Amino acid sequence: MIQPPLLFSGSSNRELAEKIAKRMQTRVGNALVDRFKNDECRIEIRENVRGAEVFVLQSICNSPSGSVNDSLMELLLMIDALRRASANRITAVVPYYGYAKQDKKTKGREPISAKLVANMLEVAGAERLVTLDLHAAQIQGFFNIPVDNLTAAPTLCNYLKNQGLQGDHVVVVSPDAGGVPRAETFAKRLKSTLAVIIKRRPEPDVSEVTHIVGDVTGKTAVVVDDMISTGGTLVKAAEALMKRGATDVYTLATHGIFAGDAVRVLNESAIDRVIVTNSLPNTELELGPKFRVLSVAQILADAIKRITANRSVSELFARDEEAAAAQTAALQQPTLELPELTPAR
Ligand code: R5P
Repeated sequence: MIQPPLLFSGSSNRELAEKIAKRMQTRVGNALVDRFKNDECRIEIRENVRGAEVFVLQSICNSPSGSVNDSLMELLLMIDALRRASANRITAVVPYYGYAKQDKKTKGREPISAKLVANMLEVAGAERLVTLDLHAAQIQGFFNIPVDNLTAAPTLCNYLKNQGLQGDHVVVVSPDAGGVPRAETFAKRLKSTLAVIIKRRPEPDVSEVTHIVGDVTGKTAVVVDDMISTGGTLVKAAEALMKRGATDVYTLATHGIFAGDAVRVLNESAIDRVIVTNSLPNTELELGPKFRVLSVAQILADAIKRITANRSVSELFARDEEAAAAQTAALQQPTLELPELTPAR
């Protein structure tokens, strides 16, 4: 009999945690996530976790409840508290892994922030990481614990297919050279052609298009990226694609960071539709009619169930997605006799 896993959540994406819990037929564990008067994070796990398989959901991002650094600190303190409360195994579920862009030194005297965050998670007591579309897959190597780097590609592709956006009237576009493998995956799934934008960054957070490789004339361009931060990359890409003869431009990214006035910039751009997931706490209502927010709750819930049952996680992304989903559904559902919400001893 598999023991039911416990799911706790920090405050950066509590709504996603609730959705995952619902799909797991459980509830989010009882914990205090607050601030002391001096703004330090205050965490208290308010139920017994001794010997339990525990998952902690937190995206490392800005949210209405705090800054990106607050969310990182909440995650670390929550893991520390669970470890000291004798949880058996703690998995950090980090749909958006912040600080990922600094994954190497591009010039002297810079930090490798993605590696430091990995060290911090391990020191806190995380024994496994579940994440989604890491900015660079090599970040997995910064960890000495198992990393499950899931992908939202099937969810995003299904959306496009349902909109009739597949076949040779569509061209999938990578907004930079680094994104070509990702765009190729989409092009294959959609049976579309591929184009690549050559982008230059004269300074951080500023992008310029220098060339477009591939034919986009008369086609719907679907630009695929891992994240949208200032929106500059996609706005510049859309302008260049329309100039080259694309008929309309859709943009997709797993992570909608929307820094600064990105939402306004994207709303005023040549882009027809911006599609992201809820890996960060975004809602269509707040973003506006040009935006679509797709849920990754099911993928994360399925991964958690499979990890708990020691089943393959990569099967989830097998070509035959329906079969994988059926297999997940068939996993033995633990009898959920959750403890009452009483203060922990
Ligand atoms: C770059 O390597 C990333 O994949 C994204 O293209 C980039 O982070 C997007 O940033 P922004 O929206 O600020 O142009």
